[in-house]
Amino acid sequence: MSSGGHLRIERRRLDLRAMVPSIYEFPDIFRRVHKEQPYEIGEEVRFLRKVWERHAPQPVQRVLDLACGNSPHGQILARGGIEVAGIDRSATMIAAGQRESRGLKNIRFYRRPIERFKIPARGFDAAIFMSETFPVMTANAAIVSHLESVAAALRRGGLYVIDIDRHGEPRVARARKLWRERTLNVCGAKVAVRAHSRPAPWYSGIHSIFDLECEIEFSDRTVKTRDLIPVRYTVPATLELLARASGKFTMVAAYADLSFEIAMENCERRWWGVLRRL
Ligand SMILES: C[S@@+](CC[C@H](N)C(=O)[O-])C[C@H]1O[C@@H](n2cnc3c(N)ncnc32)[C@H](O)[C@@H]1O
Repeated sequence: MSSGGHLRIERRRLDLRAMVPSIYEFPDIFRRVHKEQPYEIGEEVRFLRKVWERHAPQPVQRVLDLACGNSPHGQILARGGIEVAGIDRSATMIAAGQRESRGLKNIRFYRRPIERFKIPARGFDAAIFMSETFPVMTANAAIVSHLESVAAALRRGGLYVIDIDRHGEPRVARARKLWRERTLNVCGAKVAVRAHSRPAPWYSGIHSIFDLECEIEFSDRTVKTRDLIPVRYTVPATLELLARASGKFTMVAAYADLSFEIAMENCERRWWGVLRRL
C-alpha cells in the first residue's frame, strides 16, 4: 500500500533527519536507550552461528549486514574470519564502524538505503538484519524491493535472518502523548529520554510510531536528538507472505527469544525469521 498516511510519515521522517540529529548517530548510546546491553550482541552472534549450522547448505564465509549501523555483529564475525559487508544510510554510524574495525581487512561498509540498493559485491552466503529495525519499512513496495536487493547479493540457498520485536496489541493513541521517560548514564554522558506515542491511520498496518527525543549531556556540550520511527505490525505470517511476494525467498523457520526450544506462543521479547534465497 502506498497510502497518503505512509507518504506523510516518510516525508516527516526525512524532514526531521534534515533538521536535527538522530540518536542513531550515537552508536554507544542508542542501544542503552533501547534497553539493550552490549553483551546481547555476542549472544545474538552465537545463536546466528547455530541457525547457520542448522539451515545453511554450506559453511557461511561471507555475510551481508543490513542496517548495520557500526556493525557490531559484523565486527565479531569479521574477527572470527568471516568476510562482512555492511549497508547503512548513516555516514556517522559507518564512520564509527570503520574506526572500530580499523586493521580488519575483511569488513567493509556501503552507504545505501535499505529499501533499494545495489553493491558491487555478490554471492554472499548469508544476510542478517539485527536490532529489530526491519519493521521501519512500512510500505509493501519498499519491503519487496528490499528483499529483491538482498536477494541480488545472495547466492542461491543463502539464508537471510531477520530479528523482529514481538508486537503486542497495536499502541493506539488519539493524540501525541508521553509514553516513557527516563534518565540514563552512558559512557560518561547523561541522557534524558522521552518517548511519545503518536496516532497512526488505522488502515496503515502500523503497530506504533516511536517518537523519541533525547537530550545528551556530554562533558563539553549538549545535543538534542529527535527520531520519528513508524513500526509496521509484523508477525511471522507477515514475513512469510512478504518473502513469497518477493518471489526470491521462502521462509524456512521462525525462532523465539534466541532459542530453538521456546514456542512462538511463549515468545517474550523478539523472534527471528529465517528466509532462504530461492
Ligand atoms: C537500531 S540501529 C541498528 C544497527 C545495528 N544493526 C546494530 O545492531 O547495532 C538501526 C540502523 O538502521 C539504519 N537505518 C534505518 N533506516 C534505514 C534506511 N531506510 N536505510 C538505511 N539504513 C537505515 C540506521 O542508520 C541505524 O544505523
